[in-house]
Amino acid sequence: MRPPKDFFRPLAVGAPEPVREIPFRPSRMIHFFPPSNEKMRSKVPDIAPTVDILLGNLEDGVPATDKEAARAGLIEVGKTVDFGDTQFWTRVNSLDSPWGLDDLTEVVLEIGHTLDVVMIPKVEGPEDIHYVDRLLAQLEAKAGLDRPILVHAILETARGVSNVEAICGASPRMQGLSLGPADLAANRRMKTTRVGGGHPGYLVRQDPPASEDGSPDIHAHRDIFQQDLWHYTIARMVDACVAHGILPFYGPFGDINDVVACEDQFRNAYLLGCVGAWSLHPKQIGVAKKVFSPDPAEVAHATRVIEAMGDGTGAIMLDGKMEDDASVKQCQVVVALAKQLSERDPDLAATYGFGG
Ligand code: GLV
Ligand code: MG
Repeated sequence: MRPPKDFFRPLAVGAPEPVREIPFRPSRMIHFFPPSNEKMRSKVPDIAPTVDILLGNLEDGVPATDKEAARAGLIEVGKTVDFGDTQFWTRVNSLDSPWGLDDLTEVVLEIGHTLDVVMIPKVEGPEDIHYVDRLLAQLEAKAGLDRPILVHAILETARGVSNVEAICGASPRMQGLSLGPADLAANRRMKTTRVGGGHPGYLVRQDPPASEDGSPDIHAHRDIFQQDLWHYTIARMVDACVAHGILPFYGPFGDINDVVACEDQFRNAYLLGCVGAWSLHPKQIGVAKKVFSPDPAEVAHATRVIEAMGDGTGAIMLDGKMEDDASVKQCQVVVALAKQLSERDPDLAATYGFGG
């Protein structure tokens, strides 16, 4: 165990100082693109200003025969595209694959100065983060980087979920976590074949009505209510992230055409505390933008509560509802997020009526 005094020391001579706090930047969607595809690469300069985070994916979804082309394509993008204030991330191959080490090495040495965050898939425990932490420090020192690259882990194995708190606290580089529902379902032997989202079989059913003789009529019509398969994991991930000052994200929603259910899944995650989700197709960018930007009516209500609460202590009645020291904090969360997002998005600022 590293003693607390050493936690924020660079792990290699000449590596940049670790950050003490994870900066909050608009992160409503992590938009994935396949860097091996030349047509997709050519679209990056147009897509970048429309998203909060653009991620070049080197891992699953890229065939083994394209792994090196994807890495080379990512490096080309990093060298040629100006990302402005959009974050530029990559998802490297997993640490147990034949490509993970070369991905990290080449990408950091070639374009480390342009990369904000490296996403590490299939993280199982703090030991995986320690490995990446030291390696990144060595590479940053070699590349002469003046700021550290942050690390985002995907939570997609049962062991990873069991170790989630330790993963979040394993390094000052830890920026956040994403739920990886596809790999996690497989690893847990859950019996859904969908990439994220709900399942019609995961439900609760209304009690049976009484039949004429008073016994329960179990075959009568009874309403059913589909439940969220991911509720437990997302809630656990949010607690672990917030306890460590890092950011939780929902991951992929595979049914690209079902933007309605995608919106529901994203909203569940938003309401539970996630800051964003992955977008796998341009259709999902707008969905994430809508869901992860606070609702203008909610912002207006929260602003009214904050104003009415004065110094933020005590209790008042507003529109027949009790507001107090705790509820004003809930309102402050909503307004703070709206303000942070508005700084980058003038249209959103106008929707909220924030002048300036
Ligand atoms: C994402 O990587 C997933 O496995 O769902
Ligand atoms: Mg996965």
